[in-house]
Amino acid sequence: MSISKVFTILFFVLLWSSYSVSYVPPRFEMKRLSNNPIISSWDKNSDFLYNYNSAFMPMINDSNAIILLVRVQNLLDNAESIYNVGPSKIAVSQSIDNNHLKYSHIKQENIIIDTDVDYQSVGAEDPRVVLFNGVYYLYYTAVSKEPSGDWRAQLALATCESNCLTKGNWKHHGPLFPEVFWSKSGSLLIHNDTHRYLFFNDSNIAIAQTTDLIHYSLTNEYLLRTRSDSFDSELVESGPEPLKLSDENYLFLYNSARRTNITNPKPDWSLEYNLGWVILNGQNPTEILARSDQPIFSPELDWEKCDNSSSEWANRGLTPLVIFVEGWKKTTQDTFLVWYQGCDSTMGLAELKLTYIRAWLLTIYFPSVDNVNRPKNDCIIHMSYLIVVCCPIIFAQCIVRFTIINSKNLIEMLARRDQLICSPEAVWRKWDNHDLTSLVIFVEGHKKTAEDTFSV
Ligand SMILES: *[C@@H]1O[C@H](CO)[C@@H](O)[C@H](O)[C@H]1NC(C)=O
Ligand SMILES: *[C@@H]1O[C@H](CO)[C@@H](O)[C@H](O)[C@H]1NC(C)=O
Ligand SMILES: *[C@@H]1O[C@H](CO)[C@@H](O)[C@H](O)[C@H]1NC(C)=O
Ligand SMILES: *[C@@H]1O[C@H](CO)[C@@H](O)[C@H](O)[C@H]1NC(C)=O
Ligand SMILES: *[C@@H]1O[C@H](CO)[C@@H](O)[C@H](O)[C@H]1NC(C)=O
Repeated sequence: MSISKVFTILFFVLLWSSYSVSYVPPRFEMKRLSNNPIISSWDKNSDFLYNYNSAFMPMINDSNAIILLVRVQNLLDNAESIYNVGPSKIAVSQSIDNNHLKYSHIKQENIIIDTDVDYQSVGAEDPRVVLFNGVYYLYYTAVSKEPSGDWRAQLALATCESNCLTKGNWKHHGPLFPEVFWSKSGSLLIHNDTHRYLFFNDSNIAIAQTTDLIHYSLTNEYLLRTRSDSFDSELVESGPEPLKLSDENYLFLYNSARRTNITNPKPDWSLEYNLGWVILNGQNPTEILARSDQPIFSPELDWEKCDNSSSEWANRGLTPLVIFVEGWKKTTQDTFLVWYQGCDSTMGLAELKLTYIRAWLLTIYFPSVDNVNRPKNDCIIHMSYLIVVCCPIIFAQCIVRFTIINSKNLIEMLARRDQLICSPEAVWRKWDNHDLTSLVIFVEGHKKTAEDTFSV
């Protein structure tokens, strides 16, 4: 074997190994389904002033109905500003006529988790819900005040099996980690019978484990930490439960905060909350395959910013510059409805859609000779940018493929051809007894001869 052949083999072995270990994430597109809040006291959708951080509660009997568990909050009786709030509670709102943009008015009697328990005497906040084997598991933050006057937050669990839209039917299991002073934001992933994870807390996202979904143990491990050089530099906090993608891995949305200098009316407030994501290995969910380098959703509209530029919303927002997600629903493959809140004050709705780019700039294929489609066309190709990727493998057939790259953003692939555009056909390209390597055509040079025409 010649030296050059050895190097060729080595080169492709290296390329193949880098291809197989690197995960290519799909493309994320998140769009508002309405430019107005879908639940807001200013639109008279609720008896409570602030309505936010909703969980999506799947209905057992009707897959189209939407139930939201909404964090509701009023000002204190003697409030001196719009930031002087009383305890949060968790209330139910249902979609009207299966319209995911319209919800029933929230009243006092819609509260299902109240502050009538000592460990949540000053608030029941931030619900996240998972339905499993006919039982709802509701994780929320129970807030209490210590004798010392310190506030304490504890991640708590309530479960329900029937008539769950009324308060008395929820069973309270209390704080999950009574030994920890501060815990919150629980997002459950039931991976299989033996591996069930709770990704929880803010600042960093920690991992707990459970087998019976009632008792939880800390692992001292973290799923996700802040990154000082990125949009999630100050805080990361669980989103809703991870859901499976079509590639069998899990998508986990997370909330995050960074410092900002945008002028806003709230005294001493300087954070901005944005939405990020990670993709978790479908075989081992504590392994992160990919993580967003930019937020996929940020405060942009007046009722999401509530900053000094937001006209009437500057004086409505409990917390300026916040969007935050705790509930979502898969609608079709890799497409999700995402309920998000704006400024700790109202609810909005967006759609998240993922599209897979099934290859990257350089990709290697190992087609078996049998299933390679013979092309009819010749080697004239039409495109704006051309990258020809070839896949030689010794003892297999060589094929030519191309990809079209967005000329404004070179790492974005716009299209990729499914069929071969040229393969070994002429005698001299498959000259069995005279060639060094059978069944190979390989391209490393091309010249534009006319607009959209190339000599290759
Ligand atoms: C499903 O259950 C909910 C709550 O129990 C109830 O309000 C609704 O009417 C039920 N829907 C159907 C189609 O039975
Ligand atoms: C949760 O985060 C808080 C800070 O926000 C920290 O004090 C606490 O120790 C964390 N809990 C766990 C179990 O990591
Ligand atoms: C605000 O922050 C941005 C980005 O961090 C920076 O470019 C800008 O100069 C800052 N503006 C002020 C007034 O500090
Ligand atoms: C921002 O708005 C608040 C209240 O509306 C006001 O007190 C403050 O002066 C404003 N700041 C700037 C820089 O305009
Ligand atoms: C459950 O998941 C864990 C972690 O990925 C894995 O090690 C284990 O084999 C799985 N169990 C079953 C029964 O699939």
